Amino acid sequence: MRVVVLHGSPRRGGNSDTLAEQFVTGVRKTGDVEVLDFILNDMNIRPCQGCESCMTSEGHKCVIDDDMHQIYSVFADANIVVWATPMYWGYMTAQMKIALDRMEALAMDPEKYWVDKEFVAILTYRHHYQSTIGFFERVQDFFRFKFNSILYCSKNEASHEDFHVSTDKEKLDEAFVLGERLGIKVIV
Ligand SMILES: Cc1cc2nc3c(=O)[nH]c(=O)nc-3n(C[C@H](O)[C@H](O)[C@H](O)COP(=O)(O)O)c2cc1C
Repeated sequence: MRVVVLHGSPRRGGNSDTLAEQFVTGVRKTGDVEVLDFILNDMNIRPCQGCESCMTSEGHKCVIDDDMHQIYSVFADANIVVWATPMYWGYMTAQMKIALDRMEALAMDPEKYWVDKEFVAILTYRHHYQSTIGFFERVQDFFRFKFNSILYCSKNEASHEDFHVSTDKEKLDEAFVLGERLGIKVIV
C-alpha cells in the first residue's frame, strides 16, 4: 500500500504534521505501507504558469522542470493521498495551493490519477476552515471521489491561546482510527 502525504505547513511538527503522522501510524497498523512524505515548504515547486501545455500536449506532462515531478511520479500508484495544511488568511497555505495548481497536469487523466483512491484533507485552523473544505468538495465532485477530513481548531476559546494538537488525545485518536479504517478498506 502506498500513502502519499503532502505537508502544507512550514512548521515541522506542527498541528497538521502531527495529525498526518497519527493518521499514517493508524494506516501502518493494517499492513505493509510505503509512506512518501512531501514537505512542500522545502521543495522547489514553481507556481503554474498557465501555459496549458499539460492540457494540449500528448501525455499531458507539465513542462516546468522542478520538484513537482517527484509528486507526479508517485501519484498514480498511491492508494491514499493526504493533504495536510493549516489555514492561512482564509485558505490553505500558499505552499499547498501552488502544488494543487500544478496538479492540473493530473486532471487530464482522471482514471489514472483520481479514481480508486482514498483522499484525506487534514485542516488546522484558529477561526474557520470552510473555504478550504469547499475547495475539496468541488474537487471530489469533479473527479468523482469521496474525501475524508480531519479538522482541528488550535485556538482555545477562553484564553485565545493556540494549543498544540498533541494535548488533544481525542483528536489524535480520531486521526489514528481514520488511518486504520482506510488502511483496512484499501487492503480488502
Ligand atoms: C500567517 C498565518 C495566517 C493564518 N491565518 C489563519 C486564518 O485565516 N484562519 C484561521 O482559522 N487560522 C489562521 N491561522 C492559524 C493557523 O491556521 C493555526 O495556528 C494552525 O493550527 C497552524 O497549523 P500548523 O501547526 O500545522 O502550522 C494563521 C496562521 C498564520 C501563521
